[in-house]
Amino acid sequence: MTDSRLAIVILAAGQGTRMKSETPKLLHTLAGIPIVSHVLATAREMDAAYTVAVVRHERDRLAEVIEEQLPGGMIVDQDEIPGTGRAVEQAVAALPLDFAGEVLVVNGDVPLLDADTLTSLIESHRAGSSSATLLSAVLDDPTGYGRIVRDAGGRLDRIVEHRDATAAELALSEINAGVYLFGLAELRDTLASLGTENSQGEKYLTDVVGLLRAAGSEVAAVPVEDPWLVAGINDRAQLSEAAAKLNALIVRGWQLAGVTVQDPATTWIDLKATIANDVELLPGTQIRGATVIATGAVVGPDTTLLDCEVGERAVVKRTDATLSVIGADTSVGPFAYLRPNTILDAGGKIGTFVETKNSTIGAGSKVPHLSYIGDTTVGTGSNVGAGTITANYDGVNKNKTIVGSHVRTGSHNVFVAPVRIGDGAYTGAGTVVRKDIPSGALGISVAPQRNLEGWVVDNRPGTDAATAAQDSTPEQSGD
Ligand code: UD1
Ligand code: CA
Repeated sequence: MTDSRLAIVILAAGQGTRMKSETPKLLHTLAGIPIVSHVLATAREMDAAYTVAVVRHERDRLAEVIEEQLPGGMIVDQDEIPGTGRAVEQAVAALPLDFAGEVLVVNGDVPLLDADTLTSLIESHRAGSSSATLLSAVLDDPTGYGRIVRDAGGRLDRIVEHRDATAAELALSEINAGVYLFGLAELRDTLASLGTENSQGEKYLTDVVGLLRAAGSEVAAVPVEDPWLVAGINDRAQLSEAAAKLNALIVRGWQLAGVTVQDPATTWIDLKATIANDVELLPGTQIRGATVIATGAVVGPDTTLLDCEVGERAVVKRTDATLSVIGADTSVGPFAYLRPNTILDAGGKIGTFVETKNSTIGAGSKVPHLSYIGDTTVGTGSNVGAGTITANYDGVNKNKTIVGSHVRTGSHNVFVAPVRIGDGAYTGAGTVVRKDIPSGALGISVAPQRNLEGWVVDNRPGTDAATAAQDSTPEQSGD
């Protein structure tokens, strides 16, 4: 049910300088979705009366993601005045005048934050009488975070940013998590009097805390039990640490749901993937995007699947596949490369050193070795010989190859598209198929072999080959 007293503000306007990236910080991904999308998903779960996201740096790229994920949300553009305090000031100004509730402010760079933690923050605030309640965490290494400064009685006094802190303050290990709940009226008043007297010349939201306290109001800080919940991402080292932490949670979740994961440290599973019980994931495997894996499948080692569908009992070994459908009871790899729109029907095989693209391999059909199959349809029960290449591109257009059912093609064929091989047809080894082959026919394009007797002895006298030829007995000579 919508919480009519609650507005959520997500801060997403910062530059993210420490990422040193062309990509805005909040669009860097973990578990397959942008940092900000994790926060937006959590915000959405809270079902607040109003959700406001503040943007500025690369605003269009951020706004696109926000609009998609929070269709009913408001997007507010921060002006040229920098700082988290200014961002909140402008967000609050966008709320309707008749709204008189609480404002939950969340930094956009805390991807592991969950709705349960926010709910208990709100409950704790509503149970007390403070003007504001914020989340804190006690860290072994608080470097970079704002520190919670408490008075002799243990009451929260103010927050000091790392770069503005004294040596004694830097030694404090309780940090500001960047997640706050404010009563709207007092927040509004206090934001109006925020200054910029700090090392960055910014309006700090954190100064609101000190101002509220100086005005005689209470502010409570609730420490979270697991500091990972509020880990802020400022640089790529923190991003990889948070990604590893999240991945460990995801892997564990699937393990408890009945998936065998031999090596959690080298197995990466995106948030949107779905894996049935009794699937086995072997080391070095990445299950990316919205990949779906059915029961009994064995994936890996060293396999990456992006947005794929894998059927029951399929075995997919040392394979890279994107946007492909791998049917039940199939075998893929080792060393297979399935490009978008490959469909391998039940019982089929895409074998060793085989690349496929935009092709359907019918039920029980096999492309076992060293082949490139593009823009092709293969019927059922066919076998494509080793080393077959579809010449699908004539330099201008891509053309289709159609192979029927129960076809047997020889090794080292080229199918020059557009071309059609009929049901039950055969081809000889080394055939270049330029014309359609009717059903049941044998297609051959190779000229009959000629043997020029004695050629080596006559033309390469004195070589090891010539000596071997002269010494050979009739049964070794191949006659
Ligand atoms: C901030 C807090 C710090 C806290 C830490 C927790 C302030 C001044 N400091 O520091 O006390 O320990 O988070 O992770 O708030 N943003 C805007 N507009 C701006 C600047 C930033 O919207 O003008 C957004 C950013 O996009 C980001 C969030 O606010 O999502 C926090 O900004 P960031 O620069 O990461 O703050 P920290 O230095 O980490
Ligand atoms: Ca931060």
